[in-house]
Amino acid sequence: MENFPVINFEKLSGEERKATMEKIKDACENWGFFELVNHGIPYDLMDTVERLTKDHYKKCLEQRFKEMVANKGLEGVQTEVKDMDWESSFFLRHLPESNISKIPDLSDEYRMVMKEFALKLEKMAEELLDLLCENLGLEKGYLKKAFYGSRGPTFGTKVANYPPCPKPDLVKGLRAHTDAGGIILLFQDDKVCGLQLLKDGKWIDVPPMRHSIVINLGDQLEVISNGKYKSVEHRVIAQTNGTRMSIASFYNPGSDAVIYPAPALVDQNNEVYPKFVFEEYMKLYAGLKFQAKEPRFEAFKGSNVHLGPISTA
Ligand code: OGA
Ligand code: NI
Repeated sequence: MENFPVINFEKLSGEERKATMEKIKDACENWGFFELVNHGIPYDLMDTVERLTKDHYKKCLEQRFKEMVANKGLEGVQTEVKDMDWESSFFLRHLPESNISKIPDLSDEYRMVMKEFALKLEKMAEELLDLLCENLGLEKGYLKKAFYGSRGPTFGTKVANYPPCPKPDLVKGLRAHTDAGGIILLFQDDKVCGLQLLKDGKWIDVPPMRHSIVINLGDQLEVISNGKYKSVEHRVIAQTNGTRMSIASFYNPGSDAVIYPAPALVDQNNEVYPKFVFEEYMKLYAGLKFQAKEPRFEAFKGSNVHLGPISTA
């Protein structure tokens, strides 16, 4: 079997740039996922993010998760649980404006470190979007602009912990789905595994690798690339031992951004992806996340995009 694509980011500035761009292209076309190493985000910052995230979970969230499990009687389930995930998570928004100061129970240090980490990831997301532009034959800045809307992109981080689970065959850590948004940057536990992607009908592990960042593409990049790149289904298998940390940052279009296939990637015969306002897509996704993406795209076909009042701000 082919190996999971690992991209050495440093090689983009050297003699091996062309081969590395090809590798990214292949990963986008055939995996929807790749893992970045030597990406330039300081390892000591990542170590601090990890330490504070794990401390915060132990101190503020673990007990609550255990109580939830006890209240729902999940320890003793006998049949597959299809309406929930074995996951403890909270969400930080960074753009268009940060909500970090409003999230309860975070230490000042944790807030500050997460802001710093998010800023690095935001830059990395924009850099990656330009690499994708280059591989797709779109002008530099095209994807960033496509995501911009009137207030810039939406950028947020889901901080998750997947605690040990006695029945991983009956309860998923996170049920299979594709991500709705643009590009996702994931800092995952380097010891406890669990993330899998669907490739050619088989579930494949996304291997834990210390200090790497896992990248995957969401539904919006599938639409804009007119299907050249696909958002790929993935899931988290809960483990019987160990708590898995996962910090997933979502660089998404702004809520009023109008999303449609890049005209340069559409020829008259193959226009298959629809046009819609990102926020409308998200409303639909909220109820259908764990279902196939195709009906979501279908739902917008033939619909007239309502652009709303023109913002003067
Ligand atoms: C997600 C997701 C994977 C993980 O939040 O959409 O796929 O490893 N997370 O937490
Ligand atoms: Ni996901």
